[in-house]
Amino acid sequence: MLLTNIHRIYGVRDRSSFLRGKEMDKLPYLENAWLRIKGERIEAFGTMDQLPATMQDAWIIDASGRLVLPAFCDAHTHVVFAGSRESEFVQKIRGATYADIAAAGGGILSTMQAVRKASEQELFESSWLRVRRMMEQGTGALEIKSGYGLDLANELKLLRVIRRIREQAPIPIRATFLGAHAFPPEYRNDREGYVNRVIGEMIPAIAKEGLADYIDVFCEQGFFSVDQSRRILEAGIKYGLRPKIHANQLSSSGAVQLGVELGALSVDHLEQMNPEDIGDLKDSGVIPTALPGAAYFLRASYPPARAMLDAGLGLAIATDYNPGSAPSGNMWFNIQLACIQMRMTPAEAFNAATINGAWAMEVADHAGSILHGYLANLILTHPIPNLESIPYAFGENPVHRVMIRGMWV
Ligand code: NIG
Ligand code: FE
Repeated sequence: MLLTNIHRIYGVRDRSSFLRGKEMDKLPYLENAWLRIKGERIEAFGTMDQLPATMQDAWIIDASGRLVLPAFCDAHTHVVFAGSRESEFVQKIRGATYADIAAAGGGILSTMQAVRKASEQELFESSWLRVRRMMEQGTGALEIKSGYGLDLANELKLLRVIRRIREQAPIPIRATFLGAHAFPPEYRNDREGYVNRVIGEMIPAIAKEGLADYIDVFCEQGFFSVDQSRRILEAGIKYGLRPKIHANQLSSSGAVQLGVELGALSVDHLEQMNPEDIGDLKDSGVIPTALPGAAYFLRASYPPARAMLDAGLGLAIATDYNPGSAPSGNMWFNIQLACIQMRMTPAEAFNAATINGAWAMEVADHAGSILHGYLANLILTHPIPNLESIPYAFGENPVHRVMIRGMWV
């Protein structure tokens, strides 16, 4: 397939590297360009004045006026869940906080009840529809966490659903074990007992079935302490699971420093960052990941992206798609929030949502950029003059078509 007369192809590079600081504001593009796809991969691209005659044997699609972008790499989601929590949404409108609802036994635990009742097949069917919808909106790689089962059988059920999605979906999927998401009711008065269960029972069983790539914890006051989080993550590391951490969502609690200490792949959320947290992340190699939709939905403050970027850090952006704090898998909306509320430039926000997201889920060698041999996971927009006009026209849907592995979704 040959796309011709493309107004601009963004994200064109000759290699993929994680972008930090000032590099994030550069999003290279080709103007008046062509792009050839062979099978499921990007074969070649260039400008129209240098289109080889031999290329024109292909199925040609005229993309006049349109932009081509690499599909999004959404490196933090909880899309495998059952039920929904609109009633909490209304409680929050009336003034309740996320922490109030969790303390009253709602929140994560109400989704846990729904997940425990659902069969593996039911969970698969409802989650598959969400993943389909995300692909239609332009997502081309996805990380999915467990964490709504909170006992061995139900965590295994969630991770097996993720495995089925991985087998069936045409996009790269990474699986994360998040048994330490909340304390289940059985262990309300024996938190150490639950931590020991996660370490002694769940991690070995999950590793044995090869069900997870990463291990995550919700490290937060009222949830897992820094010490408990450390023990759980270290146990995961012993089984080959690299840490990711829900860090500094509700407070600056030492979770960022734990991520640095353990060489986590990413620390995610970061709504509550003090200058020491930013300083400690510098030169650590840990990828800070912002989840703007969760901050928006909970009316929380946004991560201090400007201070982080100006300090030389790189950022990834992900949706956090989950029924409690971010019931949406729309990366466009997250990019708009990043630009408008976090003062990231459109180039910074797109890089955070594509190439840096790819690094935060270790798929950057085949996804997140327009590069020779990479997966043909692309977004073809409506006719649009430039990248900047996408977050500018907030709430509009720029997608004309999405291509995954060389096929239109
Ligand atoms: O990333 N903070 C913890 N976990 C999720 C929310 C999960 C839920 O409320 O169901 C998050 O925001
Ligand atoms: Fe999350």
